[in-house]
Amino acid sequence: MTEKRIYLDFNASTPLAPEVVEAMRPLLTEHFGNPSTHHWAGAPAKAAVERARAQVAALLGCDPDEIVFTSSGSESNNHALKGVFLANRDRGDHIVTSAVEHPAILRPLRFLETLGAKVTVLPVDGHGRVDPEDVRKALTPRTILVSIMHANNEVGTVQPIAEIAAIARAAGVLMHTDAAQSVGKIPTHVNELGVDLLSVAGHKLYAPKGVGALFIRRGTRIEPFVHGAGHEQGRRAGTENVLLDAGLGAACEVAGRWIGMPPVRELRDRFETRLKELFGEKLTVNGAGAERLPNTANLNFVGQVGAEVLARLPGVAASTGSACHAGSVELSPVLAAMGVPAQEGMGAVRFSLGRTTTWEELEDVLSMLGAASSPTRAAASAGAPVSSRREHWEKVYGEKSEHELTWHQANPSTSLQLIANAGAGPATRIVDIGGGASRLVDALLVRGFQHVAVLDIAEGALDKAQRRLGSRASAVAWVAGDVTSWEPDAPFDVWHDRAVFHFMTCAEEREAYRTAMRKALRVGGQAIIGTFAAGGPDRCSGLPVVRYEAETLAAELGLGFQLLESLREDHVTPTGKVQRFQFCRFVRT
Ligand SMILES: Cc1ncc(COP(=O)(O)O)c(C=O)c1O
Repeated sequence: MTEKRIYLDFNASTPLAPEVVEAMRPLLTEHFGNPSTHHWAGAPAKAAVERARAQVAALLGCDPDEIVFTSSGSESNNHALKGVFLANRDRGDHIVTSAVEHPAILRPLRFLETLGAKVTVLPVDGHGRVDPEDVRKALTPRTILVSIMHANNEVGTVQPIAEIAAIARAAGVLMHTDAAQSVGKIPTHVNELGVDLLSVAGHKLYAPKGVGALFIRRGTRIEPFVHGAGHEQGRRAGTENVLLDAGLGAACEVAGRWIGMPPVRELRDRFETRLKELFGEKLTVNGAGAERLPNTANLNFVGQVGAEVLARLPGVAASTGSACHAGSVELSPVLAAMGVPAQEGMGAVRFSLGRTTTWEELEDVLSMLGAASSPTRAAASAGAPVSSRREHWEKVYGEKSEHELTWHQANPSTSLQLIANAGAGPATRIVDIGGGASRLVDALLVRGFQHVAVLDIAEGALDKAQRRLGSRASAVAWVAGDVTSWEPDAPFDVWHDRAVFHFMTCAEEREAYRTAMRKALRVGGQAIIGTFAAGGPDRCSGLPVVRYEAETLAAELGLGFQLLESLREDHVTPTGKVQRFQFCRFVRT
């Protein structure tokens, strides 16, 4: 069986947004000219770079000529620190930073110390926050720059940058922030933050690796980073990386629509709540007492080692907050600076969620962790009797929000095709089993179907559907209950089940399902049943499922049902997992 892949390391890097790929495509295939030339070949390249510059500027709330394209977040930080130091030596040599900065800040500062810079590294509190008063106290007449990150890459703690910048500005000191992790996740308007310099890293916001940007407020004294011809207003020589600049521009435009990431925050919070229920005091959340990035969950599995926790999550991409060296475990410098006790921090794991993360993926992680940590829980969830199934689905649908609809719940195109193939029309009496969370009922009403019933075990799902449909809901018969105990009173022409039968993991349940189906369906009526196919996942929404081929499903239904056709649907999830699904259409003989 191929291993399920779940990507929860979006703070390490992100995939390309589709809009980014589209923006880059013509530059790969057509527009090869040098943007500095003044003929037909250079013009589209130049236009692409300037459009991208304007897109980055729009996200940051500055003018395009205040943006310099770079090769990375690291280069942007290097440019800011070294450029300000070299251009302001007549004013001073003192730089203030924090203990939780990325190495792309701390290492260049260490280098600048060899050139005579004096660096003050401020402590943070238990949540990873710098106290603005500490910044004020650290300033001296020789301070030329304060560089404090906007959001921390490991824990997600957001620093009070506006407060710190106001203190720096009042003292005539330049303010830089490394916003590699915050751009695209939370607001990063340079004027609201009050900063003079701000670093962007493309691959953290769905742009390619190898591109970044530096905001340099007009009038800031800063040495160029690469000397040469006059590219990037003389600040970074080298023919522009047109392709990647265009990708970053498009990524910034898309990111503007994601600021705050409310659906991602909701998933992260729910994930943390569930973990706390599972582990109690054996789980602590780093940075929980401060404002945090909406996508980041940095968790201590108390008394465990982070790498070992991850080893029990095969297929899950996430990071640890501790490193093992020759058998001993060392806390990350960030957790150490926060004063996290070794007993807790050595079990740190960072799960960083992205735009495409689904609750289903997090539930898979939860069930792996639950199974790994408590054998009794694992045993309890292996089979799923009706009462626990009801509870389970009430919870899933009660908490699932609109954006978490799976592709096939939102687009029941295969179902509609098979319903059409069954010769169904407005007068057909059709029942949708487990259809509470699906949009099939909406599609049937739009097509004029007048006799639709929806049965679902989760009353919450039915309530939601009724609220969504408003006055149209009265045209539907809503049945709250489990199919295995349903006593249908009217014979139907079509039985539709997109994903209920494969949850029937024991023989008695399957027999009860068949009994209900035989009672509900008139002879000559048709049954359309969708199940995971061989090669599909063996769990869905945290519950075990049985997978079928058309023949095995036909054999399972037994005499009285004749297979007419089967259609395959490969669901490619946003993280690239292929879930094999199939629909079979039977006639009741
Ligand atoms: C806070 C922070 N700054 C800087 C960087 C470096 O960015 P890049 O990988 O583009 O050099 C990272 C990347 O992890 C980061 O998280």
